[in-house]
Amino acid sequence: MKITMFESYEEMSQQAAERVAAHIAEHPDTLLCFAAGETPMGMFRILAAMQEDGRIDLSQARFAGLDEWVGLGPNDTGSCIQVMHDAFYRPANIPLEHIHVFDGLAADLTEECQKMENWITACGGIGMTVLGIGMNGHIGFNEPDVPVQNGCIVCDLDDTTKAVSIKYFGQPLPVRQGISIGLGSLIQAREVVLLANGARKSEIVHATVHGPVSNRVPSTLFRDHLCTTLLLDREAAIQIQKE
Ligand code: GLP
Repeated sequence: MKITMFESYEEMSQQAAERVAAHIAEHPDTLLCFAAGETPMGMFRILAAMQEDGRIDLSQARFAGLDEWVGLGPNDTGSCIQVMHDAFYRPANIPLEHIHVFDGLAADLTEECQKMENWITACGGIGMTVLGIGMNGHIGFNEPDVPVQNGCIVCDLDDTTKAVSIKYFGQPLPVRQGISIGLGSLIQAREVVLLANGARKSEIVHATVHGPVSNRVPSTLFRDHLCTTLLLDREAAIQIQKE
């Protein structure tokens, strides 16, 4: 894993967008998998602007939604699908038929997992994924201690994730599970970008870089992956710089 630090969130986001642009230039019909959450919002703004003025051409790319809260759908504020449509798919004019996401409202979650796995296979695997590191080191909804497996998973949410979830919904919601592309499939992506910004992430960034490699902290599993780059702003890097 390569680690690069930037002075500001904006510079980190710019670098993430430029990496996506470089990947698209080489593989125009790639499958991209972007996390929702607050971390990639700057990258989404920059990518939408690049698409608008022709610096990137996302018209042939395909998209796989990384994860979803079980029980939430597109009409629920803070659902991953709503966040992704508002922040990226719509502003970047991505055709709906190029996007496959989990339906958090589906009665049969095993079937949802299968449908996502079929989409990933049909697209030739994940070309590039841009992931946010959760406060507990989760990746998507691969929570601490999740089995490292290919395909997709339904995972019980960790207490930290339940507590943090209020920031997305604006109110406490009784979320208990998440559905996510699994760590095995993400690690197999041709290119992985991990993002973290802000002082509140500095502790988990330190654990990601220096702690034991273990599914106790899912983000550590990317450390030995040669095609992974960790992009940080100055505040998120504070603790690793003390080493
Ligand atoms: C959320 C989502 C992830 C996201 C991560 C970090 O719960 N399940 O997809 O990447 O946690 O979120 P944030 O960027 O808001 O800190």
